[in-house]
Amino acid sequence: MKHHNARKDAGGGGGGAFAVPCVDIKLFVASLAFITLFIALWQLQPYGSLLAAARQSASAPPCSLPLSTTSAAAATSHLPSSNSTPRDTEPTKNASGATATPAAAANATSPVKATTKKTTPAVTSTTAAATLPVRLARESRPSDPNKRVLRPYGTAAALFVQMGAYRGGPRTFAIVGLASKPTHVFGTPYYKCEWLPNPTPTTPAPAAIRTKAYKILPDWGYGRVYTTVVVNCTFPTNPNSANTGGKLLLHAYHSTTSRRYERIPALEELPGSYNHSLYSPPYQYDYLYCGSSLYGDLSAARMREWVAYHARFFGPRSHFVLHDAGGVSAEVRAVLEPWVKAGRITVQDIRAQAEFDSYYYNQFLVVNDCLHRYRHAANWTFFFDVDEYLYLPGGRTLEQVLGKLQGFTQFTIDQNPMSTKLCVKDPKNDYSREWGFEKFVFRNTFTGVRRDRKYAIQARNAYATGVHMSQNVHGRSTHKTETLIRYYHYHNSINVMGEPCQHFVRRPANGSRIKFDGVPYVYDDNMRRLADKIKLFEKETIGSVHS
Ligand SMILES: *[C@@H]1O[C@H](CO)[C@@H](O)[C@H](O)[C@H]1NC(C)=O
Ligand SMILES: *[C@@H]1O[C@H](CO)[C@@H](O)[C@H](O)[C@H]1NC(C)=O
Ligand SMILES: *[C@@H]1O[C@H](CO)[C@@H](O)[C@H](O)[C@H]1NC(C)=O
Ligand SMILES: *[C@@H]1O[C@H](CO)[C@@H](O)[C@H](O)[C@H]1NC(C)=O
Ligand SMILES: *[C@@H]1O[C@H](CO)[C@@H](O)[C@H](O)[C@H]1NC(C)=O
Ligand SMILES: *[C@@H]1O[C@H](CO)[C@@H](O)[C@H](O)[C@H]1NC(C)=O
Repeated sequence: MKHHNARKDAGGGGGGAFAVPCVDIKLFVASLAFITLFIALWQLQPYGSLLAAARQSASAPPCSLPLSTTSAAAATSHLPSSNSTPRDTEPTKNASGATATPAAAANATSPVKATTKKTTPAVTSTTAAATLPVRLARESRPSDPNKRVLRPYGTAAALFVQMGAYRGGPRTFAIVGLASKPTHVFGTPYYKCEWLPNPTPTTPAPAAIRTKAYKILPDWGYGRVYTTVVVNCTFPTNPNSANTGGKLLLHAYHSTTSRRYERIPALEELPGSYNHSLYSPPYQYDYLYCGSSLYGDLSAARMREWVAYHARFFGPRSHFVLHDAGGVSAEVRAVLEPWVKAGRITVQDIRAQAEFDSYYYNQFLVVNDCLHRYRHAANWTFFFDVDEYLYLPGGRTLEQVLGKLQGFTQFTIDQNPMSTKLCVKDPKNDYSREWGFEKFVFRNTFTGVRRDRKYAIQARNAYATGVHMSQNVHGRSTHKTETLIRYYHYHNSINVMGEPCQHFVRRPANGSRIKFDGVPYVYDDNMRRLADKIKLFEKETIGSVHS
C-alpha cells in the first residue's frame, strides 16, 4: 500500500518513506507543537469541526498518510492512542484530555513506548494523526448517527511529475513536469530550489545553496487532470562554479498554508561536467525541430515525405526531435531509421505519458521538455506538426529569411490550408504513386476564419512555450511573416493509411478558382514543383532505401 501510494504520489521520484523524511527537524518540532495545540483544541471544539480538521489533514496525502517503518517511531509519537481498547478508536473528549494532566499526557505519548513494549499492535502504532478519519470510518458505534463519514481510497493526481530538468545557462535551470491541475487551480502549491554541492577534500560539508523558484503554467488552461508546469530555478551565481558537481533539488510545497513539501532530486552534475561554452553561441545546430506527441495510426508514406522535405529545407546543420506517444509503428520507424542512423533525427519514447491525463497526449509537456532540453542546441527552434510543410514564398533562402527575423525572439507562421481529398485527374500521371504534397494542389482560399499559426523561437530567450506560440519569452515577437515564410497544411493527411485522393477534377487554369463542398480552392502547385528535387535529395542522402 505504501509503495503503491508512494509511486503515484511522488510520480516515481523519491519513493520511500515520505512523511517524516520530507520534513526537517525544526518542522518536526513545530508539528509536535501543532499536534499538542490540536489536541488541546480537540477538548474545546465540538466533534464536527474536529473531524473536518482531521479530514483536511488526511486529504493531503504524502506527508501524513501511511508511513514507512523508518518513520513509524516518529509518527507514532503524535498519536493519542495508547489505550488500545476499542473505545480509543473514537475521538472522545477523553483522549484529548491527554494534555490536561501530566498523567494523561504520558498516555498521549506512550505509543512510542508501546512499539517497544509490543503491547500495541503494529498497525495502530504505525498510523499517524491523519489516519484518524479512516479509523472513524470503521467505528462500530458512531456516537452521532447523523455524523457522516467520507472515506478516501486510492490516490489523486500527483503533486509533481517530473519529465526533465535542464541547465539553461550558467546560473539557471528549468524543471519540466506535470502537476495536479485542481491543486494549481484551487490550491497554492509552490516551489523552492536547492543546490547541494558535492563534498570535496577542502570542503567536506559544503552548505546547500537555496533559491526561489518561479513556476509557469504554459498550457493556457487546456490541462485536464494534469497541467504542465515549468519551474525556473535561477541562482544569484553559478552554484557549480568550482565544477565539483552537485545536485539540484526541487522542493515542491503542498500549499502556502503548510510547510509540507516533497524533496525531489531533479538533476545531478558530475564533477567536471559543467562546460560554460555550451551556453553561448555558436551552437551545435542552426535549426532544431521540436515535434509534438505522435499518436494514433500514422501513415509511413507521409512521414517519409515530411522528413525528406524538411531535412532538405533545414539543411545539414539541423536536427529533428520526434516524440513517440504510440504513433511510431514498425512501418513509421522503418522510414525514420535511416535518418536516425545518419544523426538527423532523435526519437524520444514518451509513451509513459499515457498515465497522466492532460491535453492531447501531453503536447504542452513535450514541447516544453524539448525547448529546455535543447535550449542552447540551435539558433532557432521550430514548433509545428508532421502534416505541415514550411515554405519560403519569396524565393529567399532560409538563412536570408531568418536574417530578417534575427531581431525577434519569436515569429509565428501563417498557414496555407490544403485539401487532402481533392486531386487532379490527369491521365498522364499515376497519382497513386505521387507523394502527398505532390498531389495535394488545391489551396483553400476561404478567409472568414482564424487559422492556427505555428512558430519558431530563439530558445535561449524563452522560458516556456506552447503549441501555437510562446507567451514566456524575453524579447520581441512578430506575426508579420506571411511574405517571408508560410506553411502548407495538409490537415489530417498523416492519419490516412490508404490513398488519400477521393475526388478528382481537371487541372484548373493558373489562378482560377474552383468550389468543392462549398469551399473555394485555388490551384497551387508550389510544393508539387519541388517534389523531384526532394526525391533526389532523399536518394542522395540516405540511399535508395525506399522503393
Ligand atoms: C471519558 O470521559 C467520561 C466523562 O467525561 C467518562 O465517563 C468516561 O469513563 C471516560 N472514558 C474513558 C475511556 O476514559
Ligand atoms: C494510561 O494508560 C494506562 C495503560 O495503558 C492505563 O492504566 C491508565 O489508566 C491510563 N491513564 C489515563 C489517564 O488514561
Ligand atoms: C565544451 O563544449 C565545447 C562545445 O561543445 C567543446 O568544444 C569543448 O571541447 C568542451 N570542453 C570540455 C572541457 O569538454
Ligand atoms: C547562428 O548564430 C550565430 C551566432 O549568433 C551566427 O553567427 C550564425 O550566423 C547563426 N546561424 C544562422 C544559420 O542563423
Ligand atoms: C529563468 O528565468 C530567468 C529570469 O526570467 C531567465 O533569465 C532564465 O533564462 C530562465 N531560465 C530558464 C532555464 O528558462
Ligand atoms: C502556371 O504557373 C506555372 C508556375 O507559376 C507556370 O510554369 C505555368 O506555365 C503556368 N501555366 C499557365 C497555363 O499559365
